[in-house]
Amino acid sequence: MTDRPVTDRIELSQPDDWHLHLRDGAMLAAVAPASARHFGRALVMPNLVPPVVTTRDAVAYRRRIMAALPQGTSFTPLMTLYLTEATNADDVAAAHAEGVATAIKLYPAGATTNSQSGVRDMEKVYPVLERMAAIGMPLCVHGEVTHPEVDIFDREAVFIASVLEPLRRRLPELKIVLEHVTTRDGIDYVRSADRNLAATLTVHHLFINRNAMFAGGLRPHYYCLPVAKREVHRLALRAAAVSGEGRFFLGTDSAPHADAAKEAACGCAGIFTAPNALACLARAFDEEGALDRLEAFASLNGAAWYGLAPNERKVRLVRRPAPVAYPGRIETDDGPVTVFDPMLPLHWEVER
Ligand code: NCD
Ligand code: ZN
Repeated sequence: MTDRPVTDRIELSQPDDWHLHLRDGAMLAAVAPASARHFGRALVMPNLVPPVVTTRDAVAYRRRIMAALPQGTSFTPLMTLYLTEATNADDVAAAHAEGVATAIKLYPAGATTNSQSGVRDMEKVYPVLERMAAIGMPLCVHGEVTHPEVDIFDREAVFIASVLEPLRRRLPELKIVLEHVTTRDGIDYVRSADRNLAATLTVHHLFINRNAMFAGGLRPHYYCLPVAKREVHRLALRAAAVSGEGRFFLGTDSAPHADAAKEAACGCAGIFTAPNALACLARAFDEEGALDRLEAFASLNGAAWYGLAPNERKVRLVRRPAPVAYPGRIETDDGPVTVFDPMLPLHWEVER
Protein backbone atom coordinates (compact mmCIF):
# COMPACT_ATOMS: atom_id res chain seq x y z
CA MET A 1 0.00 0.00 0.00
CA THR A 2 1.13 3.52 -0.67
CA ASP A 3 -0.55 6.78 0.17
CA ARG A 4 0.37 8.24 -3.17
CA PRO A 5 -2.73 9.77 -4.76
CA VAL A 6 -3.99 7.60 -7.58
CA THR A 7 -3.87 9.26 -10.97
CA ASP A 8 -6.24 7.70 -13.45
CA ARG A 9 -5.86 10.03 -16.37
CA ILE A 10 -3.04 12.14 -17.72
CA GLU A 11 -2.88 14.48 -20.65
CA LEU A 12 0.33 15.18 -22.47
CA SER A 13 1.59 16.65 -25.71
CA GLN A 14 1.55 13.88 -28.28
CA PRO A 15 4.72 11.77 -27.90
CA ASP A 16 7.41 11.34 -30.56
CA ASP A 17 9.47 8.23 -31.18
CA TRP A 18 13.11 9.16 -31.72
CA HIS A 19 14.22 5.72 -32.95
CA LEU A 20 11.89 3.59 -35.05
CA HIS A 21 12.18 0.82 -37.64
CA LEU A 22 9.34 1.00 -40.14
CA ARG A 23 10.81 -1.46 -42.71
CA ASP A 24 9.47 -1.50 -46.26
CA GLY A 25 6.91 -3.19 -48.49
CA ALA A 26 4.35 -5.43 -46.81
CA MET A 27 5.93 -5.02 -43.38
CA LEU A 28 5.85 -1.21 -43.64
CA ALA A 29 2.18 -1.31 -44.58
CA ALA A 30 1.39 -3.54 -41.59
CA VAL A 31 3.41 -1.75 -38.89
CA ALA A 32 3.27 1.97 -39.80
CA PRO A 33 -0.33 2.44 -38.58
CA ALA A 34 0.61 1.28 -35.07
CA SER A 35 3.16 4.09 -34.71
CA ALA A 36 1.01 6.66 -36.51
CA ARG A 37 -1.88 5.96 -34.12
CA HIS A 38 0.04 7.15 -31.07
CA PHE A 39 3.05 9.21 -32.11
CA GLY A 40 3.24 12.61 -33.76
CA ARG A 41 6.67 12.12 -35.32
CA ALA A 42 9.27 9.40 -35.52
CA LEU A 43 12.92 9.36 -36.45
CA VAL A 44 12.98 6.54 -38.98
CA MET A 45 16.00 4.26 -39.08
CA PRO A 46 17.67 3.73 -42.47
CA ASN A 47 18.72 0.06 -42.17
CA LEU A 48 16.72 -1.25 -45.11
CA VAL A 49 18.20 -3.66 -47.63
CA PRO A 50 19.76 -1.83 -49.43
CA PRO A 51 20.12 0.96 -46.86
CA VAL A 52 18.86 4.54 -47.13
CA VAL A 53 22.17 6.19 -47.96
CA THR A 54 21.53 9.22 -50.16
CA THR A 55 19.14 12.17 -50.18
CA ARG A 56 17.36 10.50 -53.09
CA ASP A 57 16.93 7.28 -51.13
CA ALA A 58 15.47 9.20 -48.18
CA VAL A 59 13.02 11.15 -50.35
CA ALA A 60 11.81 7.94 -51.98
CA TYR A 61 11.52 6.09 -48.66
CA ARG A 62 9.61 8.95 -47.05
CA ARG A 63 7.16 8.82 -49.96
CA ARG A 64 6.65 5.06 -49.44
CA ILE A 65 6.04 5.64 -45.73
CA MET A 66 3.46 8.36 -46.40
CA ALA A 67 1.71 6.06 -48.87
CA ALA A 68 1.52 3.34 -46.19
CA LEU A 69 -0.20 5.57 -43.62
CA PRO A 70 -3.95 5.43 -43.14
CA GLN A 71 -5.87 8.37 -44.64
CA GLY A 72 -6.10 11.34 -42.36
CA THR A 73 -3.15 10.57 -40.06
CA SER A 74 -0.96 13.49 -39.14
CA PHE A 75 2.15 11.41 -38.46
CA THR A 76 5.44 12.90 -39.69
CA PRO A 77 8.35 10.59 -40.49
CA LEU A 78 11.70 12.30 -39.93
CA MET A 79 14.34 10.63 -42.01
CA THR A 80 17.89 9.50 -41.32
CA LEU A 81 20.70 8.61 -43.69
CA TYR A 82 22.83 5.53 -43.19
CA LEU A 83 26.48 6.49 -42.82
CA THR A 84 28.84 4.47 -45.00
CA GLU A 85 32.53 4.90 -45.69
CA ALA A 86 31.51 6.27 -49.10
CA THR A 87 28.96 8.82 -47.82
CA ASN A 88 29.44 12.19 -49.45
CA ALA A 89 29.62 15.24 -47.16
CA ASP A 90 27.96 17.53 -49.72
CA ASP A 91 25.01 15.16 -50.11
CA VAL A 92 24.59 15.02 -46.33
CA ALA A 93 24.71 18.81 -46.07
CA ALA A 94 22.14 19.13 -48.87
CA ALA A 95 19.83 16.61 -47.18
CA HIS A 96 20.03 18.66 -44.01
CA ALA A 97 19.53 22.02 -45.71
CA GLU A 98 16.52 20.75 -47.66
CA GLY A 99 14.96 19.25 -44.54
CA VAL A 100 15.09 15.74 -46.03
CA ALA A 101 17.24 14.19 -43.30
CA THR A 102 17.09 15.05 -39.62
CA ALA A 103 20.12 13.00 -38.57
CA ILE A 104 22.75 10.56 -39.78
CA LYS A 105 22.96 7.06 -38.36
CA LEU A 106 26.24 5.38 -37.56
CA TYR A 107 26.17 1.60 -37.46
CA PRO A 108 29.50 -0.06 -36.76
CA ALA A 109 29.67 -2.70 -39.51
CA GLY A 110 28.10 -5.94 -38.30
CA ALA A 111 26.69 -4.48 -35.06
CA THR A 112 23.06 -5.36 -35.72
CA THR A 113 20.32 -6.15 -38.26
CA ASN A 114 21.29 -4.97 -41.78
CA SER A 115 24.48 -3.23 -40.69
CA GLN A 116 26.84 -4.87 -43.14
CA SER A 117 27.24 -1.56 -45.04
CA GLY A 118 28.20 0.26 -41.85
CA VAL A 119 31.47 1.80 -40.80
CA ARG A 120 34.64 -0.28 -40.33
CA ASP A 121 37.18 2.52 -40.10
CA MET A 122 36.08 5.71 -38.36
CA GLU A 123 38.90 7.67 -40.06
CA LYS A 124 37.05 7.27 -43.36
CA VAL A 125 33.95 9.11 -42.11
CA TYR A 126 35.60 12.07 -40.41
CA PRO A 127 35.10 14.41 -43.39
CA VAL A 128 31.34 13.80 -43.13
CA LEU A 129 31.33 14.11 -39.34
CA GLU A 130 33.27 17.38 -39.51
CA ARG A 131 30.74 18.80 -41.93
CA MET A 132 27.88 17.67 -39.69
CA ALA A 133 29.49 19.37 -36.70
CA ALA A 134 29.81 22.56 -38.76
CA ILE A 135 26.15 22.60 -39.84
CA GLY A 136 24.70 21.35 -36.55
CA MET A 137 23.39 18.03 -37.90
CA PRO A 138 23.08 15.31 -35.24
CA LEU A 139 24.73 11.89 -35.40
CA CYS A 140 22.79 8.94 -33.98
CA VAL A 141 25.04 6.07 -32.97
CA HIS A 142 24.46 2.39 -32.47
CA GLY A 143 26.92 2.26 -29.59
CA GLU A 144 28.39 -1.22 -29.73
CA VAL A 145 31.75 -2.49 -30.91
CA THR A 146 31.63 -5.61 -33.04
CA HIS A 147 34.98 -7.28 -32.34
CA PRO A 148 34.22 -10.93 -31.72
CA GLU A 149 36.67 -11.02 -28.80
CA VAL A 150 34.55 -8.50 -26.85
CA ASP A 151 31.84 -10.14 -24.76
CA ILE A 152 28.40 -9.19 -26.09
CA PHE A 153 27.37 -7.78 -22.70
CA ASP A 154 30.40 -5.45 -22.69
CA ARG A 155 30.05 -4.09 -26.20
CA GLU A 156 28.37 -0.85 -25.24
CA ALA A 157 30.87 0.02 -22.51
CA VAL A 158 33.79 -0.78 -24.81
CA PHE A 159 32.27 1.32 -27.58
CA ILE A 160 31.96 4.31 -25.25
CA ALA A 161 35.58 4.08 -24.18
CA SER A 162 37.17 3.20 -27.50
CA VAL A 163 35.00 4.98 -30.09
CA LEU A 164 32.62 7.52 -28.57
CA GLU A 165 34.96 9.25 -26.16
CA PRO A 166 37.73 9.74 -28.80
CA LEU A 167 35.10 10.98 -31.28
CA ARG A 168 33.73 13.52 -28.82
CA ARG A 169 37.22 14.74 -27.93
CA ARG A 170 38.08 15.23 -31.57
CA LEU A 171 34.75 16.81 -32.55
CA PRO A 172 33.22 18.39 -29.43
CA GLU A 173 30.82 20.45 -31.57
CA LEU A 174 29.16 17.35 -33.06
CA LYS A 175 25.73 16.64 -31.56
CA ILE A 176 25.52 12.93 -30.77
CA VAL A 177 22.70 10.66 -29.60
CA LEU A 178 23.77 7.41 -27.98
CA GLU A 179 20.87 5.30 -29.18
CA HIS A 180 19.04 2.69 -27.10
CA VAL A 181 21.43 2.94 -24.19
CA THR A 182 21.33 -0.27 -22.12
CA THR A 183 23.87 0.11 -19.32
CA ARG A 184 24.47 2.10 -16.17
CA ASP A 185 27.86 2.91 -17.68
CA GLY A 186 26.11 4.47 -20.66
CA ILE A 187 23.78 6.51 -18.46
CA ASP A 188 26.71 7.73 -16.35
CA TYR A 189 28.67 8.61 -19.45
CA VAL A 190 25.82 10.63 -20.96
CA ARG A 191 25.34 12.44 -17.66
CA SER A 192 29.04 13.27 -17.49
CA ALA A 193 29.01 15.16 -20.81
CA ASP A 194 28.88 18.92 -20.54
CA ARG A 195 26.96 19.31 -23.82
CA ASN A 196 26.11 17.84 -27.23
CA LEU A 197 25.36 14.33 -25.95
CA ALA A 198 21.96 12.77 -25.36
CA ALA A 199 20.57 9.22 -25.24
CA THR A 200 17.44 7.45 -26.30
CA LEU A 201 15.93 4.72 -24.14
CA THR A 202 13.65 1.98 -25.41
CA VAL A 203 10.48 0.74 -23.75
CA HIS A 204 11.51 -2.90 -23.58
CA HIS A 205 14.80 -2.19 -21.78
CA LEU A 206 12.76 -0.61 -18.97
CA PHE A 207 11.00 -3.97 -18.48
CA ILE A 208 13.36 -6.80 -19.20
CA ASN A 209 16.80 -7.75 -18.04
CA ARG A 210 18.86 -10.47 -19.65
CA ASN A 211 17.09 -13.23 -17.76
CA ALA A 212 14.02 -12.67 -19.95
CA MET A 213 15.81 -14.27 -22.90
CA PHE A 214 16.37 -17.50 -20.97
CA ALA A 215 13.29 -17.83 -18.76
CA GLY A 216 12.52 -21.57 -18.85
CA GLY A 217 13.98 -21.85 -22.36
CA LEU A 218 15.23 -19.68 -25.17
CA ARG A 219 12.86 -16.73 -25.77
CA PRO A 220 13.64 -15.14 -29.12
CA HIS A 221 11.06 -12.37 -28.75
CA TYR A 222 13.17 -10.85 -25.96
CA TYR A 223 16.30 -10.78 -28.11
CA CYS A 224 17.34 -7.40 -29.45
CA LEU A 225 20.50 -5.42 -29.89
CA PRO A 226 21.93 -3.98 -27.80
CA VAL A 227 21.02 -7.06 -25.82
CA ALA A 228 19.29 -6.56 -22.44
CA LYS A 229 21.76 -6.46 -19.56
CA ARG A 230 21.74 -7.21 -15.82
CA GLU A 231 19.06 -5.94 -13.46
CA VAL A 232 21.28 -3.12 -12.10
CA HIS A 233 21.39 -1.72 -15.61
CA ARG A 234 17.64 -1.94 -16.11
CA LEU A 235 17.16 -0.03 -12.87
CA ALA A 236 19.62 2.65 -13.98
CA LEU A 237 17.72 3.03 -17.27
CA ARG A 238 14.45 3.42 -15.41
CA ALA A 239 15.92 6.04 -13.11
CA ALA A 240 17.23 7.99 -16.09
CA ALA A 241 13.92 7.76 -17.96
CA VAL A 242 11.89 9.10 -15.04
CA SER A 243 14.48 11.69 -14.02
CA GLY A 244 13.05 14.36 -16.29
CA GLU A 245 16.60 15.25 -17.41
CA GLY A 246 16.50 16.74 -20.88
CA ARG A 247 19.25 14.53 -22.27
CA PHE A 248 17.19 11.34 -21.94
CA PHE A 249 14.23 10.71 -24.22
CA LEU A 250 12.14 8.00 -25.84
CA GLY A 251 13.31 6.06 -28.88
CA THR A 252 11.33 2.83 -28.88
CA ASP A 253 13.59 0.94 -31.29
CA SER A 254 10.41 -0.90 -32.25
CA ALA A 255 11.93 -3.38 -34.69
CA PRO A 256 9.47 -5.84 -36.25
CA HIS A 257 10.60 -9.12 -37.75
CA ALA A 258 8.32 -11.88 -38.98
CA ASP A 259 8.03 -14.58 -36.32
CA ALA A 260 9.62 -17.10 -38.68
CA ALA A 261 12.75 -14.95 -38.82
CA LYS A 262 12.96 -14.69 -35.03
CA GLU A 263 11.99 -18.25 -34.10
CA ALA A 264 14.88 -19.71 -36.04
CA ALA A 265 18.24 -21.37 -35.50
CA CYS A 266 19.79 -17.93 -36.01
CA GLY A 267 16.99 -15.56 -35.08
CA CYS A 268 16.95 -11.85 -35.89
CA ALA A 269 17.48 -9.19 -33.24
CA GLY A 270 14.62 -6.78 -32.69
CA ILE A 271 11.54 -6.33 -30.49
CA PHE A 272 8.26 -4.96 -31.84
CA THR A 273 6.78 -2.53 -29.31
CA ALA A 274 4.88 0.02 -31.40
CA PRO A 275 1.33 -1.20 -30.55
CA ASN A 276 1.73 -1.10 -26.76
CA ALA A 277 4.72 1.22 -26.27
CA LEU A 278 2.75 4.01 -24.59
CA ALA A 279 0.77 1.60 -22.42
CA CYS A 280 4.03 0.04 -21.22
CA LEU A 281 5.63 3.42 -20.63
CA ALA A 282 2.69 4.65 -18.60
CA ARG A 283 2.94 1.51 -16.48
CA ALA A 284 6.67 2.02 -15.91
CA PHE A 285 6.30 5.69 -14.97
CA ASP A 286 3.32 4.86 -12.76
CA GLU A 287 5.36 2.20 -10.95
CA GLU A 288 8.10 4.75 -10.37
CA GLY A 289 5.63 7.35 -9.09
CA ALA A 290 6.68 9.58 -11.97
CA LEU A 291 3.65 9.97 -14.21
CA ASP A 292 4.20 13.72 -14.04
CA ARG A 293 7.52 13.24 -15.86
CA LEU A 294 6.22 11.02 -18.65
CA GLU A 295 5.59 14.03 -20.87
CA ALA A 296 9.17 15.24 -20.52
CA PHE A 297 10.53 11.83 -21.52
CA ALA A 298 8.08 10.97 -24.29
CA SER A 299 7.04 14.33 -25.71
CA LEU A 300 9.30 17.23 -24.76
CA ASN A 301 12.96 16.33 -24.30
CA GLY A 302 13.55 14.76 -27.70
CA ALA A 303 11.84 17.54 -29.62
CA ALA A 304 13.86 20.13 -27.72
CA TRP A 305 17.08 18.28 -28.42
CA TYR A 306 16.32 18.20 -32.13
CA GLY A 307 15.36 21.88 -32.05
CA LEU A 308 11.66 21.28 -32.70
CA ALA A 309 8.55 22.47 -30.89
CA PRO A 310 6.50 19.85 -29.06
CA ASN A 311 3.48 18.52 -30.94
CA GLU A 312 0.45 20.77 -30.54
CA ARG A 313 -1.94 17.85 -30.38
CA LYS A 314 -2.58 16.35 -26.94
CA VAL A 315 -3.16 12.72 -26.04
CA ARG A 316 -4.86 11.37 -22.95
CA LEU A 317 -3.79 8.21 -21.20
CA VAL A 318 -6.38 6.57 -19.02
CA ARG A 319 -5.95 3.85 -16.42
CA ARG A 320 -8.64 1.18 -16.77
CA PRO A 321 -9.63 -0.87 -13.74
CA ALA A 322 -9.26 -4.13 -15.67
CA PRO A 323 -6.19 -4.99 -17.75
CA VAL A 324 -6.41 -3.74 -21.33
CA ALA A 325 -6.04 -6.49 -23.93
CA TYR A 326 -3.34 -5.63 -26.46
CA PRO A 327 -2.86 -7.89 -29.48
CA GLY A 328 -0.15 -10.47 -28.93
CA ARG A 329 0.72 -10.39 -32.60
CA ILE A 330 -0.22 -8.64 -35.79
CA GLU A 331 -0.75 -10.29 -39.15
CA THR A 332 1.28 -9.12 -42.14
CA ASP A 333 1.74 -10.39 -45.68
CA ASP A 334 5.21 -11.49 -44.50
CA GLY A 335 3.61 -13.59 -41.75
CA PRO A 336 2.69 -12.84 -38.12
CA VAL A 337 4.81 -10.49 -36.00
CA THR A 338 4.81 -10.91 -32.22
CA VAL A 339 4.22 -7.80 -30.12
CA PHE A 340 6.36 -7.18 -27.02
CA ASP A 341 4.95 -8.86 -23.92
CA PRO A 342 6.03 -6.98 -20.79
CA MET A 343 4.96 -10.02 -18.72
CA LEU A 344 2.75 -7.74 -16.62
CA PRO A 345 -0.83 -6.59 -17.09
CA LEU A 346 -1.26 -3.24 -18.82
CA HIS A 347 -3.98 -0.98 -17.47
CA TRP A 348 -3.22 2.15 -19.46
CA GLU A 349 -4.82 3.04 -22.73
CA VAL A 350 -4.64 6.00 -25.09
CA GLU A 351 -8.10 7.56 -25.01
CA ARG A 352 -9.62 8.57 -28.29
C1 NCD B 1 17.13 -3.45 -35.07
C2 NCD B 1 16.50 -3.98 -36.36
O1 NCD B 1 15.94 -5.08 -36.33
O2 NCD B 1 16.54 -3.28 -37.38
N1 NCD B 1 17.28 -4.55 -34.17
C3 NCD B 1 17.37 -4.46 -32.83
O3 NCD B 1 17.59 -5.49 -32.19
N2 NCD B 1 17.24 -3.32 -32.20
C4 NCD B 1 18.41 -2.78 -35.37
C5 NCD B 1 18.99 -1.99 -34.23
O4 NCD B 1 18.49 -0.91 -33.88
O5 NCD B 1 19.96 -2.44 -33.62
ZN1 ZN C 1 17.09 0.26 -33.84
